[in-house]
Amino acid sequence: MIESFIQIFLLFLLLPSSICQLPLDALTPDRPIRDGDVLVSNKQIFALGFFSPGNSQHRYAGVWYNNIPEKAIVWVANRDNPVNDSYGVLSINGDGGLVIHGKDPSTPLWSANVTLSSPNNFTAKLLDTGNLVLLENSSQRVVWEGFDYPSDTLLPFMKIGLNQRSGLEKHLTSWKSKDDPGTGSCTYGIDPMGVPQLFVRKGRDALFRVGPWTGDRLSGTVGNYNSSFVNNEDEISFVYFPALRPQIARVVIDESGILQTFAWNDQWIKSYSYPTRWCDSYGQCGPNTNCDPDKDYKLACTCLPGFESKSPSLGLGEGACIRKAEVSTCQNGEGFVKVARVNIPDSSTARVNLSMSLEQCKQKCLMDCSCTAYTSADDRGGGIGCVTWQGDLIDTKTFSHVGQDLYVRVDATFLAQYAKSSGSLSKKARVAISLGSVTVFILLLTLYWLVRMKMKGKRRQNKCSFELTAGSTYFEEATSGLILDDSRINSELLLFHLNTVATATNNFSIENKLGEGGFGSVYKGMLYDGKEIAVKRLSKFSSQGVEEFKNEVLLIAKLQHRNLVKILGCCFEDEEKILIYEYLPNKSLDSFIFNEPKRALLSWTRRFEIILGIARGLLYLHEDSRLRIIHRDLKASNVLLDNSLNPKIADFGMARIFRGEQTEANTNHVVGTYGYMSPEYAMKGLFSIKSDVYSFGILLLEIITGKKNAGSFEKDPYSNLIGHVWELWKEGRAVEIIDSSIGESYLVSEIIRCIQIALLCVQEFAIDRPTMSVVVSMLSNDVAFTSPKRPAFLLKSMSPSGEPSSNKRVSSINDVTCTIVEAR
Ligand SMILES: *[C@@H]1O[C@H](CO)[C@@H](O)[C@H](O)[C@H]1NC(C)=O
Ligand SMILES: *[C@@H]1O[C@H](CO)[C@@H](O)[C@H](O)[C@H]1NC(C)=O
Ligand SMILES: *[C@@H]1O[C@H](CO)[C@@H](O)[C@H](O)[C@H]1NC(C)=O
Ligand SMILES: *[C@@H]1O[C@H](CO)[C@@H](O)[C@H](O)[C@H]1NC(C)=O
Ligand SMILES: *[C@@H]1O[C@H](CO)[C@@H](O)[C@H](O)[C@H]1NC(C)=O
Ligand SMILES: *[C@@H]1O[C@H](CO)[C@@H](O)[C@H](O)[C@H]1NC(C)=O
Repeated sequence: MIESFIQIFLLFLLLPSSICQLPLDALTPDRPIRDGDVLVSNKQIFALGFFSPGNSQHRYAGVWYNNIPEKAIVWVANRDNPVNDSYGVLSINGDGGLVIHGKDPSTPLWSANVTLSSPNNFTAKLLDTGNLVLLENSSQRVVWEGFDYPSDTLLPFMKIGLNQRSGLEKHLTSWKSKDDPGTGSCTYGIDPMGVPQLFVRKGRDALFRVGPWTGDRLSGTVGNYNSSFVNNEDEISFVYFPALRPQIARVVIDESGILQTFAWNDQWIKSYSYPTRWCDSYGQCGPNTNCDPDKDYKLACTCLPGFESKSPSLGLGEGACIRKAEVSTCQNGEGFVKVARVNIPDSSTARVNLSMSLEQCKQKCLMDCSCTAYTSADDRGGGIGCVTWQGDLIDTKTFSHVGQDLYVRVDATFLAQYAKSSGSLSKKARVAISLGSVTVFILLLTLYWLVRMKMKGKRRQNKCSFELTAGSTYFEEATSGLILDDSRINSELLLFHLNTVATATNNFSIENKLGEGGFGSVYKGMLYDGKEIAVKRLSKFSSQGVEEFKNEVLLIAKLQHRNLVKILGCCFEDEEKILIYEYLPNKSLDSFIFNEPKRALLSWTRRFEIILGIARGLLYLHEDSRLRIIHRDLKASNVLLDNSLNPKIADFGMARIFRGEQTEANTNHVVGTYGYMSPEYAMKGLFSIKSDVYSFGILLLEIITGKKNAGSFEKDPYSNLIGHVWELWKEGRAVEIIDSSIGESYLVSEIIRCIQIALLCVQEFAIDRPTMSVVVSMLSNDVAFTSPKRPAFLLKSMSPSGEPSSNKRVSSINDVTCTIVEAR
């Protein structure tokens, strides 16, 4: 947190040094650094001096954070040649530039290997980035820098990669052990072969892979950092820096080859660590496979389209997938099948041409019989440039959040089967249904015709509905982007027969009713195979609900995330419009947090996991690489809990899609729930991702306090929870608001941090509120954050009904009807 940084800084300023000598700000020929001296950077962020790591008796010259008591060494000079005594000296020297020696000055232990003709004209300085530089006095030209010789730590602004002119290659190398910073066996650096990507290796073996660069990030990575990748004649390099300043962060490769990201927040917090999941390890499933990290490892491996497993042990990573011997993929009617959202295969053998379009890329790959797959080189703007592979495809992984689409060459037979299962769908696009299960195929085919006839009839009557469906590019995307990938096959939308749904719900009996949703009732049902479902039946009389209903089908069919509720199918028959969801036995979050006995079941750890899950689900909606979706009605009753109490965001009836650069929209049809609506939305109809962030903040406070925002504090001047929390926060009494049934085992500081995040989310001005990616980082302790400004208080008088405590949905009458996609 910023306060603690400032405190540390102040502390430092007041007590200039805990070491006997004043720190130096420059190293000159007549003022070397002896063991015991420290050289500090201008803003006193980093320090350089001699140290002994762990239990070692040896002395090394290195760089660490000056103000952080828990010493983290970020760079070591003489890592392989320590000084054995306490007479170590680092000095400027004509022969070597910078030199370290022990008691005997005639045997240098380490040198920068530069020759200085007039050493007196040179100075060495430690920069505020942690970089030790050797400068020529008058020109300030850097003749040598420590960042060219990284140790085990990647600091912000430190480049790793290859200088194509000088041949200098910069990579991280692990220490030998905690006590020995000597050159270890694991490295992290850029592999310039093919399309450059980053590799962690142990010796020569690849442990895992990051990248390649796909325009604005490394393929398959998330994280709240800015980075840049340069690939030209001069250099191939990667550099990262935190998106938020100030931040003290570092990436370290440890002795076993694990990459860890640390950020300072009163202590060193490990925010990420790779590899963490089974699929992360290089080539885990063998050639021509796709590894899905969200699945149990036994099921994680699947063959890429057109390939077949040659051994049953595929799931254990031993098998490989091959093409059937008799199939031909050369000038024999072959084509490509899209595998959506993956971390693309090892690109060290791939070829790239940045000036091609994706269509040209396809043609190029098609013409070349050895080309096995292609994708775009730059994922931005719908994909530009062309990457093609020859031969086996290694280390493909599903990355549903930030992956890229890969097009894999398949033979004519496979292509025909694929087209059959997906191609016919484009016609059916009008109802946004994907057919998947072969077992019900025949039944569905019949239904399909029935529905199609119906839709045709409808179209004639209802022009608006036709335009909506045909005019929406999103609509096409939702159906033509059908994925042939095991994880998706199970989750494809099914078209249910009304009879099936009626039987499953005991004819929509009152006993089966779970509740009254936004635009209709929700029932519990059981299919004949015993599978439990939740059925949302749109009210027949709600004409306005039809659009929302369609919207929800379209949206949710497209979305796949563990923190979003899963739709199984739908039913359009007679006047009925029905959605079928997975059934979540634990119902919604509000049935827990606002219920005295059940609330106690949610320990702080559990609540924190729920908070994080909701945040991740919302982040997926907001920053999904193609669509920006605003939920607009996030609240406790729209968060469902599964068997293991994992949260799933539900009810997309009011969600809106933003495209491209659009960040804000206006509507005169304000929908949502009082108590959760941001002021700019409630008052001006303005909504953006920040209005969801506001709702998230409210939800966060409700989870922490076990109280409803609206109507909990009738006597309080602000009559709501935020007002109450804000008053306590200002007085430093925020602890008092924590739900007493939360149990004993929690870190007060962690809850306070969450309250702070919540207050940041509910700040009055949308611009001040963090984005969900920042919220997720803040929750996982990745970033420093600020003090919240005054939150927005929705006062009683703002509610048109005069009842702020009622969780009533509101909508104005002058509604625009055709609003499935508000693309402006
Ligand atoms: C330091 O000690 C080690 C082992 O004790 C020895 O091998 C090495 O030569 C010594 N180095 C110097 C500079 O004395
Ligand atoms: C300087 O040269 C020596 C011998 O070639 C080498 O071992 C050492 O790593 C070099 N030092 C740096 C900082 O490059
Ligand atoms: C170079 O700069 C350093 C520090 O700024 C100074 O101490 C030194 O005298 C300068 N050398 C010459 C030759 O001017
Ligand atoms: C060193 O610096 C001095 C003073 O700035 C200058 O006169 C002299 O030419 C420099 N020497 C070299 C070799 O650059
Ligand atoms: C990081 O990226 C964001 C968005 O592209 C930009 O607004 C911000 O200025 C960048 N930060 C730095 C330090 O470059
Ligand atoms: C890249 O593609 C363009 C357009 O098809 C072509 O003119 C150019 O020669 C290609 N470059 C390379 C290096 O193959």
